[in-house]
Amino acid sequence: MSKKIMIVCGSPRKQGNTNRIVGWVADAARGAGAEVEVIDAAHLDYRTNGCIGCMGCQKSEEYRCVVDDEAAPIIARMPEADAVVLASPVYWHGPTAQLKMLADRMFSLIKVSSFPFPTPFEKTTLALIGTGAGPMDDGLDLLEEVFKRTATGLQLPFESLLVPLTPEDPEDLEGNAEVRERAAAFGRKLAGA
Ligand SMILES: Cc1cc2nc3c(=O)[nH]c(=O)nc-3n(C[C@H](O)[C@H](O)[C@H](O)COP(=O)(O)O)c2cc1C
Repeated sequence: MSKKIMIVCGSPRKQGNTNRIVGWVADAARGAGAEVEVIDAAHLDYRTNGCIGCMGCQKSEEYRCVVDDEAAPIIARMPEADAVVLASPVYWHGPTAQLKMLADRMFSLIKVSSFPFPTPFEKTTLALIGTGAGPMDDGLDLLEEVFKRTATGLQLPFESLLVPLTPEDPEDLEGNAEVRERAAAFGRKLAGA
């Protein structure tokens, strides 16, 4: 059966480095037979500025954020995917605010009242695509650590594709065969090929 991959991209730049790499990952995964959905998390219609800590998700039986906007059903569908891929450029040594707006609300996918936290996940891998203009230790390492620990909290396996030294002009990434190949290999891996 074909794998389902949900890619949630938090770069505000639609034609930027991160979205280009996301496109290459998605193309390769589709080429390997996966069903891929790409979500532009930076341009969703949000009702709140991220998680507001209302704990409504913890009081309800459902694994769903109670803030009723475009992000809530996307997060609730994550457990249906074989891979949920969060994608972000490094902004000041962490993810973009745009990705955090959505990612923090993944708190609705655990119940913290007992340990290990009950979750609806049965088959999902959490993955990260990260880009940064600097070398790995200028924040990509920290970005990876954030989501590695998120995966631990959600009790999910974790994979990552980290691309340091991205060009100032994303057009210049187009001819980078090494990054293209790494992105394609990552897409094929997520697709299980
Ligand atoms: C506000 C801001 C903060 C940034 N902080 C970092 C950083 O801490 N480390 C780094 O390597 N690059 C940093 N960058 C560079 C971006 O991560 C890099 O250019 C990335 O590839 C941009 O992705 P995009 O084209 O998808 O926007 C920063 C860029 C911006 C705009």
